[in-house]
Amino acid sequence: MGTGQPTKIFLPAPSRKGSISLEEAISRRRSVRDFSPQPISQSQLSQILWAAQGITDTSRRYRAVPSAGATYPLEILVACGRNGIEEIGAGIYHYNVADHSLSLHHQGDVRLDLAKAALDEAMIYQAPVDIIICALYQRTTRHYGSRGERYVHMEAGHAGQNIYLEATALGLATVAIGAFHDEPVREILRLDKQYKPLYIMPVGRLTTD
Ligand SMILES: Cc1cc2nc3c(=O)[nH]c(=O)nc-3n(C[C@H](O)[C@H](O)[C@H](O)COP(=O)(O)O)c2cc1C
Repeated sequence: MGTGQPTKIFLPAPSRKGSISLEEAISRRRSVRDFSPQPISQSQLSQILWAAQGITDTSRRYRAVPSAGATYPLEILVACGRNGIEEIGAGIYHYNVADHSLSLHHQGDVRLDLAKAALDEAMIYQAPVDIIICALYQRTTRHYGSRGERYVHMEAGHAGQNIYLEATALGLATVAIGAFHDEPVREILRLDKQYKPLYIMPVGRLTTD
């Protein structure tokens, strides 16, 4: 690609201790729709991705959020803006759960296009980074039939809540966005047909910081 940007980025190891209690994070959590354009750090992104899908039981490969039958139907993408994450170029990245790394999926800042596909929700391009929770339903429905679809949606809710709480614990903010057009979002993110985007979650610092 000639940009010096590595195609695989190993994220810093997540911390298992935070500076605020779970109760404080729950009581402070709010949906925020105004973000500072300041970048977030790789450590902050690492922590948020770990909370969303990271491995917390290395022997059984179980993750931070519960999953029906441990079928793990979710995949997490990160749309990083220009100067969105310290020392990471603008692009769409895939979170690799197994080794807690990011793979470059496509270069370029897609936040404005994403916002247009999401009823012009300005926070999607104002925030330095957007986390997109996608589902591969088949991983779960092949075990549970059509009931598996509801399990996938429940799991996305668990992951979304963990992102909210982790962002709050880090002094960052987010909002869960469900209002967007699936097909344009899928095309902007260059996802295969079987991937369904469920949530777009802009993450960043508050404008008041
Ligand atoms: C399934 C779901 C979809 C949502 N979609 C949007 C959205 O498209 N745009 C938005 O600004 N907020 C969205 N929200 C956030 C809600 O508006 C927000 O949670 C609610 O106003 C309560 O505020 P709080 O999160 O600060 O407690 C969504 C929340 C959920 C659970």
